[in-house]
Amino acid sequence: MAIVSISRRATFNASHRLHSHQLSDAENKILFGKCNRVNGHGHNYVLEVTLRGILDEKSGILFDLTKLKSIIDLAVIQKVDHLHLNMDVKPFDTINPTAENMAIVFWDWLAKEIPAGLLYEVKLHETENNVAIYRGE
Ligand code: NI
Repeated sequence: MAIVSISRRATFNASHRLHSHQLSDAENKILFGKCNRVNGHGHNYVLEVTLRGILDEKSGILFDLTKLKSIIDLAVIQKVDHLHLNMDVKPFDTINPTAENMAIVFWDWLAKEIPAGLLYEVKLHETENNVAIYRGE
């Protein structure tokens, strides 16, 4: 028996405004900088979804990657691509669309479509240098 992981990468583009209603305008500006810009701004996001589980010895695979691609596309990409997250995508009208919160929301969307126990990690790159990781905890 072997436990293996597989990852699938997908990209999308979206705009957002980072702003917490629990902070003052001045605090938001200091904390979020250009991401606090009133009219929002865009990012080229990279999403990596990792599954982990017991290798199926007959087929030699953990999960059909074509199926995973289609799940990611339907459950996440089509809901967010080329949209303004705060204005167009629930729950980001009320939840601040930080990379951390987006990773958590995407986990919830994906967990509904992926067989129980297989989803291991959602990794969201907001820029080449910034990444948020959520493992369902
Ligand atoms: Ni930003």
